[in-house]
Amino acid sequence: MPPNLPYTAPLASSPYPYTMPERPTATTHTSSTLQEVVSHAKEYGFLYPSSDIYDGLQAVYDYGPHGAALKRNLQNLWWQSMTHLHQNIVGIDAAIFMDPRIWQASGHVESFSDPLIDNKDSQKRYRADALIEEHAAMLAQKNMAKEGEELLKSMHQLLKTEDLVGLHALIVSAGIQCPVAKTSNWTAVRQFNLMFSTQAGALAEEANTIYLRPETAQGIFVNFPNVLKTNRMKVPFGIAQIGKAFRNEIVARQFIFRMREFEQMEMQFFVRPGTEAHWFDYWKEHRMQWHLALGIPNAQLRLQPHEQLAHYAQAAVDIEYAFPFGQKEIEGIHSRTDFDLKNHQVHSKKKIQYFDPEINQNYTPYVIETSLGCDRMILALLCQGLVQETVVVDEKPKSRTYLKLPPALAPIKAAILPLLKKDGLPERAQKIFNELRLDFAVAYEDGQSIGKRYARQDLIGTPYCITIDHQTLEDETVTLRERDSMEQHRLPAQALRSFLFEKVTLQSILQKLPNI
Ligand code: GAP
Repeated sequence: MPPNLPYTAPLASSPYPYTMPERPTATTHTSSTLQEVVSHAKEYGFLYPSSDIYDGLQAVYDYGPHGAALKRNLQNLWWQSMTHLHQNIVGIDAAIFMDPRIWQASGHVESFSDPLIDNKDSQKRYRADALIEEHAAMLAQKNMAKEGEELLKSMHQLLKTEDLVGLHALIVSAGIQCPVAKTSNWTAVRQFNLMFSTQAGALAEEANTIYLRPETAQGIFVNFPNVLKTNRMKVPFGIAQIGKAFRNEIVARQFIFRMREFEQMEMQFFVRPGTEAHWFDYWKEHRMQWHLALGIPNAQLRLQPHEQLAHYAQAAVDIEYAFPFGQKEIEGIHSRTDFDLKNHQVHSKKKIQYFDPEINQNYTPYVIETSLGCDRMILALLCQGLVQETVVVDEKPKSRTYLKLPPALAPIKAAILPLLKKDGLPERAQKIFNELRLDFAVAYEDGQSIGKRYARQDLIGTPYCITIDHQTLEDETVTLRERDSMEQHRLPAQALRSFLFEKVTLQSILQKLPNI
């Protein structure tokens, strides 16, 4: 992976009165492995396995104090970039439980499944496509990339025609073995629906079976007529939503990349039929700009058209991030045609149409969807941010690990640190802390040496440390230490609030985005 690059404007662009010294140092950065990210996330209060004291529940995770703050900041950024920057996008918050007929109409009962296969010797269950993909990757490592590519081509063809018998034959003929039993004693391949279901009400009857939503999008589609009416929307317009989704994933690995309970940030954009290609391109470009504005380097991102389209999609592209375990989807952009609204019209027997005054016509709008996985985005930020750095100072190498989160998303924006726990320094620091906490998530710490406190803040991604020392008592200036460069400057205490407003608010990212 390429080295992590700085994402903020250099401090020198600030209007405040300090000078940037030249750094007499040489620096090397190393990106982290997934295992290092997992350990760091647990150690520093970002993510814990769910039900940890019971040894964890597979593919479910809890956000700790710093993770919850990071996630909230990310969600606020997404929400504001959708609903504040676009006058024609509004947000909703639909319930997770919905009328089960919705999932008939959306096609999820019929088609939202993965092809599964069991090994009879190990009793282990696998996704047939994942087994084949892993085998192809293994062939590529053994200099048999061409054979791997052929295998994947055959697999995509079979998946397209839902030929499960053919998939089974492909696995057997390729000699794919169960990683546990090391045998090819496979069952037939069958489809396994990914939706979780539960019972609503007292009677355990079929009619009471309801599903935990596998995507938030349907809550938007079924509210299309309500929002159209209550907010007097005009096509093109969008409805955004952030919320939980649930999938009974069989291959649940790679930490929070594939979970059974996760969060989506989705926006459905309703357009006049015939204009969908234009809006598909618009949202592809806009969403890439969003990731770049967050500081994810271009080299780490890729737009990847879908090999295989979901049952509702006419065209689809993934935004992929280069995780330590490979280039993988973090966001999907889908051209969903009028598939969902039309089907809800049929199943609900309610007219779902829009009267377009510009062309004097009624129609069912087409939809472009942007669907970002909140947890996958958090994982990308952690992988991107966790840096091991060696700095050579006076010819001596010094190593440190720190978390280079975009300042606007960092759980804590600044730590207020009295140099010593005496001489009135804690009182002065508390005063600054009390002033700043009204506007920013700030922390106060007076234990341990200043070096240890800096190091701890670096590890949780705090972009600035503010140190109060004896000079502060004389001239009302403080030391501002920057996380990434470790540079220190003196700044009037009075200037802190406006400095932080410029550097750590969501606005610092939002202003880089185009709007409509
Ligand atoms: N409404 C469209 C939809 O749900 P998707 O590609 O299945 O499309 C959208 O999912 C995004 O949701 C993905 O790009 C991914 O970031 C996230 N996602 C999907 N399944 C996930 C899982 N099991 N765990 C974590 N995130 C997931």
